[in-house]
Amino acid sequence: MNKLYKRTLITSALPYANGPIHIGHLAGVYVPADIYARYLRLKGEEVLFVGGSDEHGVPIALKAKAEGITPQDVVDKFHHIIKESFEAFGITFDIYSRTTSAIHCQTASDFFRKLYEKGEFIEKTSEQYYDEEASQFLADRYIVGECPHCHNTRAYGDQCEVCGTSLSPLDLINPKSVISGSVPILKETKHWYLPLDKHEPWLKKWILEDHKEWKANVYGQCKSWLDMGLQPRAVSRDLDWGVPVPVEGAEGKVLYVWFDAPIGYISNTIEYAPDDWEKWWKDKDSKIVHFIGKDNIVFHCIVFPAMLKADGSYVLPDNVPANEFLNLEGDKISTSRNWAVWLHEYLQDFPGKQDVLRYVLTANAPETKDNDFTWKDFQARNNNELVAILGNFINRAMVLTWKYFEGTVPPCGDLDDYDRQTFSEFSETKLAVEGYLDNYRFRDALKEAMNLARIGNKYLADTEPWKLAKTDMKRTATILNLSLQITANLSIVFEPFLPFSSEKIKKLINKTGLKWEQLGRLDLLPEGHHLSQPELLFEKIEDDAIETQVQKLLATKKSNELSNYQANPQKENIAFEDFLKLDIRTGKVLDCQKVPKADKLLQFSIDDGMGGRTIVSGIAQYYRPEDLIGKNVCFIANLEPRMLKGIASQGMILSAENVDGKLVVITPLSEVLAGSEVK
Ligand code: MF3
Ligand code: ZN
Repeated sequence: MNKLYKRTLITSALPYANGPIHIGHLAGVYVPADIYARYLRLKGEEVLFVGGSDEHGVPIALKAKAEGITPQDVVDKFHHIIKESFEAFGITFDIYSRTTSAIHCQTASDFFRKLYEKGEFIEKTSEQYYDEEASQFLADRYIVGECPHCHNTRAYGDQCEVCGTSLSPLDLINPKSVISGSVPILKETKHWYLPLDKHEPWLKKWILEDHKEWKANVYGQCKSWLDMGLQPRAVSRDLDWGVPVPVEGAEGKVLYVWFDAPIGYISNTIEYAPDDWEKWWKDKDSKIVHFIGKDNIVFHCIVFPAMLKADGSYVLPDNVPANEFLNLEGDKISTSRNWAVWLHEYLQDFPGKQDVLRYVLTANAPETKDNDFTWKDFQARNNNELVAILGNFINRAMVLTWKYFEGTVPPCGDLDDYDRQTFSEFSETKLAVEGYLDNYRFRDALKEAMNLARIGNKYLADTEPWKLAKTDMKRTATILNLSLQITANLSIVFEPFLPFSSEKIKKLINKTGLKWEQLGRLDLLPEGHHLSQPELLFEKIEDDAIETQVQKLLATKKSNELSNYQANPQKENIAFEDFLKLDIRTGKVLDCQKVPKADKLLQFSIDDGMGGRTIVSGIAQYYRPEDLIGKNVCFIANLEPRMLKGIASQGMILSAENVDGKLVVITPLSEVLAGSEVK
C-alpha cells in the first residue's frame, strides 16, 4: 500500500461481445478507468491502458444458435459497435483488442499448458448431461427444465429466471436439451480444476492483511468468499466455442471463459508491446489496477491472482477498485428487457454531448453503493452545474476580456485582500483532487474540480468587473487576468473528466501543452496573450428532450408488461363454483425465519385467526425475515399440506413478480382481521 511504482498498467473488464454497451458499463468501469489513465498521463507518468472484447463463452454460442449465424459473426458485429462507442466517448485505450485474436488464443493456451505441466491443476471426472442426438455435452445454459422451487418450466441449468434461484443442472425436473430438444443422459467427462483451496492461505494474507486499503465493498466480498472457504474450480468446459484445451485427450473441450478472458489483459499487452510486455506484468515496480463491476470481484481478486501465482512469474494487482451497479429510473439495467440507455442511441439523441454523460455518470457514480440514473437528474446537472457554473464562468471571462481588452490577456496588478482570500481556497484544489484520484474516489475528485469553477463564478459575481470598467480599468484588468488564469486551470483539472470540453477551453484560451503540475498557478497565460473568439461550452437541455427519453422508457416498460402477459397468458375460464373452492385468507406474520440448509426458503408462523399455522415460502432471496414480521399477508388456506425440507407447510403465501423478476408479497391496503376471507 502506498508503494512507489515506476509505471501503471490499467485494465478494464473486457465486455462480452454479445450486445452493445450501456451507461451502466460506462459508469461502473470505463469512465473511471479512463479518468485514472488520463490523470496519470497528464502527470507525465508511464501508463498503459488495455481493454478488449470478451468473445468466448456459452451466451455467445447460444445467441449464434438462436440467430442461425456463427459465434464469430456475433462477436464480429458487436466488437466493432462496442469499440466505436468507446472511441466516441473518449475512452483512451492504448489497445482495444479481442479474445478471438490469434495472439490471445496462443497466450491463453500457453498459460494453461504451463500450469498443466507444473502440476497446478487437478483432474476430476464427473457425470454431466450429454445430448445423444447432438453428440455433445451440455453446458448449464444448454439445459432447460422445470424449476424445483417455483415450477417455472423454462428454468435453465444454472438459474431459474422467474424465481431467481441459482440451480445446478441436476436440480431440474424433466431436463431437456436446448440443442435438440431431446432428454439428455448423464455421462462421465473429465475436467481440469484450479485448486483454490490450496491457494487459500496466501490469498487470505494477501487480501485480508496486506490490502486493508481496498474499497470496503471489494474487501467485504473477498472476505466473505474467503471465510466460506474456497473450492477447486473447473477451468475447462465441454463446448465447441473457445480456446481448445491444449492437452491430449481433451477433444471437444475448451478453456472456461473466465479462465481465458483475464488472460486477455496479458495478450493485449503482448499485442501492444511484443518486445517489452513483460515489464508491465512481471516487474515488481509495475502497479496493476483492474477496473471492474461488482459481479467480477471474485474472478479478479481470487481466481485470476491464483492463476498468476500458479504460474509464478507474474506480479499481483495493487488494487481492484470495483464499483457497484447503476440502476436506471429505479429499476435494474437489463439487456434482455431493453431497460438501458445504449451508448449508440445516446449519441444519436444527444450528439456532441459525450462530456455531459461522462459528467453525470461520474458525479453519480455507484462507487460505494448502487445508484440511480434518472433523466431529470441528468438535465439538472447539465443545466445547473455545467451550464450555470462551469460554462457561465468561462463565457463571462471570455466575453468581458473581448469587450474591454480586445481579446488580449490584460495586465495583473496588485492583489487585494479579496483576491488573496479567493486564491488561498483555490490553491488547495490540486492536492484535494490528487488525494481523491489516487484513492479511486472519482465522485469526490470531480466535486473538487467543480468547486474550482464555483470559486471562479463567485469571484466574478462578487467583483462585478462590468461595473468597475466604468471607473477603474486597472482593477478590471486584474480581475479579468485572474479569471483567465482560473479558466486555464479549469482546462487542466477537467481534462481527465471532461476531455472534449477541456479541449474546447484550451482552444478558447488558445493554449496547449498545459501539464497537471501547473495546476494551481496564476501565471499560465502571459499578459498580451491572444484569446480566440468566445463560444459556449455547454447548452441548456430543454424539458422536451428529457420528456422524449422518459417516454421511450415508458414505452419499453409497456411492451415488457405486454410480453409478460403473453408469456403467462390468461388461463382458461373457470366456473364460479370452482372459485368458491379456493379458500384465500389474510393473516399476520407472527414470526419468520430462514430455513436452515435451504437458501430459498422462509418459514412463517402466521396468525390465521384459527389458532395459527406454519407456511414455508420460497422468497428468502427477496426479504430479510425480520422485515416481514408484523405484516399482513394473503395465503391460500385450504391447499393440501406439503413437506418442504422436513417442515409441513400449511398453505401458500401469495406474491407477484416485479420488473426485476423479484417476488413481492401481496398485502392488504389497510389493517384487516387475521383469518378474514379474501373474496
Ligand atoms: N466479460 C465479463 C463481463 O462482462 C468481464 C470479463 S473481465 C476479464 O462480466 F477480465 F475477465 F476479461
Ligand atoms: Zn423458479
